[in-house]
Amino acid sequence: MDITFLLNGESLTITDADPTVTVLDWLREAGLVGTKEGCNEGDCGACTVMVTDADGIKPLNACILFLPQLHGKALRTVEGVAPTGGLHPFQQAMVDHHGSQCGFCTPGFVMSGAVALTQDAPDFNLAFAGNLCRCTGYAPILRAAEAARDADAPWLADLPPQVTAQAAIPETADALAEWYTANPDGTLVAGGTDVGLWVTKQLRDMEPVAFLHRCADLQYIREDESGIDIGAGTSIAQVLDALPQLAPVLTRYGSAQVRAAATLGGNIANGSPIGDGPPLFIALGATLHLRHGNNRRSLPLADFFIDYGKQDRTKGEFVEAISLPPIPADFKAYKLSKRLEQDISAVCGALNITRDAGRITDARIAFGGMAATPKRAPLTEAALTGQPWTRATIDTAMQAMAQDFTPMSDMRASASFRMKAAQNMLLRCYLETEGAPSIMEVQP
Ligand SMILES: Cc1cc2nc3c(=O)[nH]c(=O)nc-3n(C[C@H](O)[C@H](O)[C@H](O)COP(=O)(O)OP(=O)(O)OC[C@H]3O[C@@H](n4cnc5c(N)ncnc54)[C@H](O)[C@@H]3O)c2cc1C
Ligand code: FES
Ligand code: FES
Repeated sequence: MDITFLLNGESLTITDADPTVTVLDWLREAGLVGTKEGCNEGDCGACTVMVTDADGIKPLNACILFLPQLHGKALRTVEGVAPTGGLHPFQQAMVDHHGSQCGFCTPGFVMSGAVALTQDAPDFNLAFAGNLCRCTGYAPILRAAEAARDADAPWLADLPPQVTAQAAIPETADALAEWYTANPDGTLVAGGTDVGLWVTKQLRDMEPVAFLHRCADLQYIREDESGIDIGAGTSIAQVLDALPQLAPVLTRYGSAQVRAAATLGGNIANGSPIGDGPPLFIALGATLHLRHGNNRRSLPLADFFIDYGKQDRTKGEFVEAISLPPIPADFKAYKLSKRLEQDISAVCGALNITRDAGRITDARIAFGGMAATPKRAPLTEAALTGQPWTRATIDTAMQAMAQDFTPMSDMRASASFRMKAAQNMLLRCYLETEGAPSIMEVQP
């Protein structure tokens, strides 16, 4: 596989690249050791780099980014963050505001901050949520970022290079369908935020591998009065931008680096019982569109998840898109986790309850973290439908929920805590709808 990208402004082609070498390993072997390895699993941000593609400038974790994912993109590392020489304004501010002690986390913070500074009105708390500092503390780093807020962004001149198509880096969904039909046991890499860990933590051999990032026709969000269509290659960051109604959960999905990489298709196809996307989209009544070669089929998203590790998807078949009705104004979604950001849900609940003249006419409720798959709550929905929108109805439905799920205990939460939390999400939905102030699951 031949990979072409801009490295700190210079065009570079790597011939016969190992498809599963990570950008972090490759950079450090190449002598660019400013980018650090902390966790090697996307959690700490020490390896953050700046990547520009057709969608703009984004921060990515180099430890779970495969080299071929750079094909046709522009990469900047901490060595190239100040292309004019000297220090980037945020680096200078880090010096001025004592933002670095041991310095191990500093290159990652610099890259996250430099990307954030290219955006209008950056929120540095959000921008740094995926960067861990063990010794300086965050206040001086945030002060430095604020001080650099009005800095120029010289790297905006990076233009991703033109590249030629390759079978394993298809340019269209048609070409992907052809590759996957010919390689039904192959592995698809979309954002790589799951697959990256199979390599760095499980040392799995996955070849043949195909990379989806150049399939522009899988990356779209179309919204009109009839509903919303989202291509499987759309990143969580793009979904969040387009559908702010989902922000209560999606701003807490991983970190800026994870959201910029992870795709909707990967979040569904991996079949995780604790993924944050599926409960939202199941409650919203989404339809999943699958493709195998030129054959397409559609099914309710809820039916895709059969059992733990088992989905309704055949070899060589991939997720092409989802479609859903418009998001109702009353839609509520909550994520409960031990940390506010960069944490997997203990319970994620989505409540789509339709009311008319004080009576519930329809209820679609789905949870992650409550069963072996993301799952609807049929008895809870039945206890609500047709009933008046009152606290008494909610209390009855909360009792019914105890029959809908048999959650498990694990390091994130006990079974009884999960059940209580899910029941309380229904109560919270009721109280918020009745005007009670919203609360946060984790106090900052
Ligand atoms: C630090 C960190 C934090 C995280 N935080 C969260 C979180 O808060 N919430 C959450 O839900 N998840 C979280 N995750 C998990 C991960 O981000 C998601 O599961 C993600 O959506 C996977 O998408 P991806 O594009 O990166 O998938 P990949 O890793 O590329 O692929 C995942 C799986 O899906 C398959 N696949 C990908 N695209 C398709 C397709 N179109 N059709 C068929 N198969 C496909 C791949 O072959 C693979 O089996 C986190 C991960 C990390 C590393
Ligand atoms: S090394 Fe920790 S996120 Fe990459
Ligand atoms: S300065 Fe030491 S970890 Fe941040």
